[in-house]
Amino acid sequence: MSHALIEIKDLHVELGGTRILKGLNAHLDHGKITALIGMNGSGKTTLLRAILKEVPYSGRIAFQCGHDHSKVTPEYVGYVPQKLNIDARLPLSVRDLLALALQRRPLFLGISRRVTRQMEAMLERVWTPKSLLDHPVEKLSGGELQRVLLALAIEPKPELLLLDEPAAGVDFQHQEKFYDLIARLNQELGVTVLLVSHDTGMVSDRAHHVICLKDGKIHCEGPPKQMVSAEKLAETFGAKGIYSHQH
Ligand SMILES: Nc1ncnc2c1ncn2[C@@H]1O[C@H](COP(=O)(O)OP(=O)(O)OP(=O)(O)O)[C@@H](O)[C@H]1O
Ligand SMILES: [Mg+2]
Repeated sequence: MSHALIEIKDLHVELGGTRILKGLNAHLDHGKITALIGMNGSGKTTLLRAILKEVPYSGRIAFQCGHDHSKVTPEYVGYVPQKLNIDARLPLSVRDLLALALQRRPLFLGISRRVTRQMEAMLERVWTPKSLLDHPVEKLSGGELQRVLLALAIEPKPELLLLDEPAAGVDFQHQEKFYDLIARLNQELGVTVLLVSHDTGMVSDRAHHVICLKDGKIHCEGPPKQMVSAEKLAETFGAKGIYSHQH
């Protein structure tokens, strides 16, 4: 029997005077992949950001793992954001981005050989050549950036992995590998995953549980086969939604 890693009770988030999440109750099962679906603007990214304590909220988000989550510690929570807020004027290379996360000493003191080897291994894990280390982050293609962000999110192994449309922009050949890697992290290392995705095929194949948000609340939840049926999608997204989600 599974138990919850996170219990969410009566969660409210208000941003810029607008109520975004409106009394949300949910739990995330330990060691499972939970998919979060719902229309644009339904509050999926906001829920992830509340779990990360990036937005102010009222209500409770309680981790049941025994670790101190009063602050978010990257050792425990990995995050692949939907979009990256990096100042394009900063000449940041992939090497700098990874080194900033991996080593404590300032970048101007150089990057140790140990950290360089670690960075190369991280890129290898996401099928990315080490030559990419010298690329400016801002010039990476969408799919390359997603792979680098996934590499960062899983080093060191997190307890919870929050993925916000992580494979958007990843090419077909690497998309399956991408999802295989996430499934392996879940099955072999017991990483709990909360995954936002509009890819219903992937959700029905890979997720253990699906939560559907509508207008800042949980609209419905259940096992994937039931949740991504044509009727459910019609109810959630409207007839047009079914069309655009049947691929
Ligand atoms: N800082 C903010 N100030 C005001 N409104 C915001 C802010 N951030 C998000 N919103 C609004 O909150 C709503 C939910 O946004 P959110 O990004 O959580 O949606 P989403 O479900 O992730 O959508 P998508 O599928 O498009 O990624 C949207 O209407 C958005 O415009
Ligand atoms: Mg979003």
